[in-house]
Amino acid sequence: MPDALPRRRITLTVNGKEHSAETEDRYSLADFLRHGLGLTGTHLGCEHGVCGACTVLVNGEAVRGCLMLAVQAEGCRVTTIEGLADDDGALSPLQQAFMDNHGLQCGFCTPGILTTLTAYLRDHPNADEPEIREALSGNICRCTGYDTIVRAALAAARTIREGAKA
Ligand code: FES
Ligand code: FES
Repeated sequence: MPDALPRRRITLTVNGKEHSAETEDRYSLADFLRHGLGLTGTHLGCEHGVCGACTVLVNGEAVRGCLMLAVQAEGCRVTTIEGLADDDGALSPLQQAFMDNHGLQCGFCTPGILTTLTAYLRDHPNADEPEIREALSGNICRCTGYDTIVRAALAAARTIREGAKA
């Protein structure tokens, strides 16, 4: 009988709520969020850092959840797509802009794009179209052709400049 795979307990804050849970050492952060916490809004596409679908915020920075081990998130503050809206369900300006500008079709890429842009527009609210396209260069979308995503991002940037949060 093979030895059980190594496991350990980690404690982290996800979308404002503290979690303490066991995980196998080999689990990625994305796998832990999906299978350990049931937060399936974080998607897995390539699982090797190329597509950006798994992007989440770790201590406010956009991180590929497939390239970070869950155990590395010990003590961290993680935000997933489920945490972008307000507690009362009100969409963030970025989410609202995606809805208003048809920034998604199948939606597979959308969680990673929204988390990527949430961090980017927070730090670069004056970003122009080329800069937004550059910021999105690590996120693959197979449906939209990117134009509506960029339009949504520019609309969200305008809203953020007018004083709302990303
Ligand atoms: S699933 Fe992580 S970058 Fe593609
Ligand atoms: S909306 Fe389908 S992959 Fe982007």
